[in-house]
Amino acid sequence: QRRKTTGQIRAMKGSGQPVVSLTAYTTPVARLFDPHVDFLLVGDSVGMVFYGFKSSLEVTLDMMIAHGAAVMRGVEKSCVIVDMPFGTYQESPEQAFRNAARMMVETGCDGVKLEGGEEMAETIHFMTQRGIPVLGHIGLTPQSINAFGSYSSRGRTDAEAKAIMSGAQAIEEAGAFAYVIEATQEPLAKAITEASGVPTIGIGASVHCDGQVLVADDMLGLFSDFKPKFVKHYASLAPQIASAAETYAAEVRSRAFPAVEHTYQPKKS
Ligand code: KIV
Ligand code: NA
Repeated sequence: QRRKTTGQIRAMKGSGQPVVSLTAYTTPVARLFDPHVDFLLVGDSVGMVFYGFKSSLEVTLDMMIAHGAAVMRGVEKSCVIVDMPFGTYQESPEQAFRNAARMMVETGCDGVKLEGGEEMAETIHFMTQRGIPVLGHIGLTPQSINAFGSYSSRGRTDAEAKAIMSGAQAIEEAGAFAYVIEATQEPLAKAITEASGVPTIGIGASVHCDGQVLVADDMLGLFSDFKPKFVKHYASLAPQIASAAETYAAEVRSRAFPAVEHTYQPKKS
C-alpha cells in the first residue's frame, strides 16, 4: 500500500514527529493537501462548511460516503479517515460495524472516526477486533450538542476532566489507533497525552497533543461566519473569491469578458 496506514499513524506516538491532519471533502482539495499531511479527515463538519447546516446532526451516511469516495480519488500517499455521522453507530456495536463496513467498502478509506468516551469503548472494541481501524474523538463532541448544550471548552471542572480522562483511556484500551481531543483545557489535554499510548490529535487542545487537525475551510479563511478561538487562518480565501466574482460580474456587464482569446473563430482559408 502506497498510502500511509493507521498502524503507521499509531506508531508516530513518541516518535517526536507531530501527526499532521486537515479535513477534506472534495477531490481537488484532497489532491492539494495530500503531499503535506499524514492523514486526511473527511469530517462531518462538511455539513456546516459545505451544506450550510446548523450542526453536524443533519449529515447522513450517504453524504459521508460520497465525500469519502471523492477524497479517496484525490489521494496518493495520505491515510484517509471518514467520520461516522450521528445516528449511524451509537445504537449498538453491530449497527456501528455494519455502517462502518459499508463506509470502508464503498469508499476504500483506511478507517473511520466516531465520537465518545467510555460509552463507546465496547463498540470500538467490536469494530477494531473485526478489521475496522477507529479514530476516537473526545472532549467537545459536536454530535452531542443537543445533550450538552454549548460549544464551550471541555474539562473545566474536576468531574468533567476525570470523565474525559477515563474516556480517553477506555477508547485506547478498546483499540482506537489514535483519538481527536477537541476544545479541551490545555492542562487536561496535556495530561491525557502524557498518559496515552496512542497519538492524541488536538483541535483546540494545545500544542501538547501528539498532532493537530483543523477544518480546512476554517484555516483557509473560506468559512468566515464564525472563527473559534483555536482556528488560525493560513489564508483568506473568502475575500479573494468575493472579489473574483465582483470583477467577473463587472467585466461581463462592460463586455470586457469574454475577449478574443476566449472565443472560437472560424479558420481563415
Ligand atoms: O468533522 C470534523 O471536521 C471533525 C474535526 C473537527 C476533528 O470532527
Ligand atoms: Na466530526
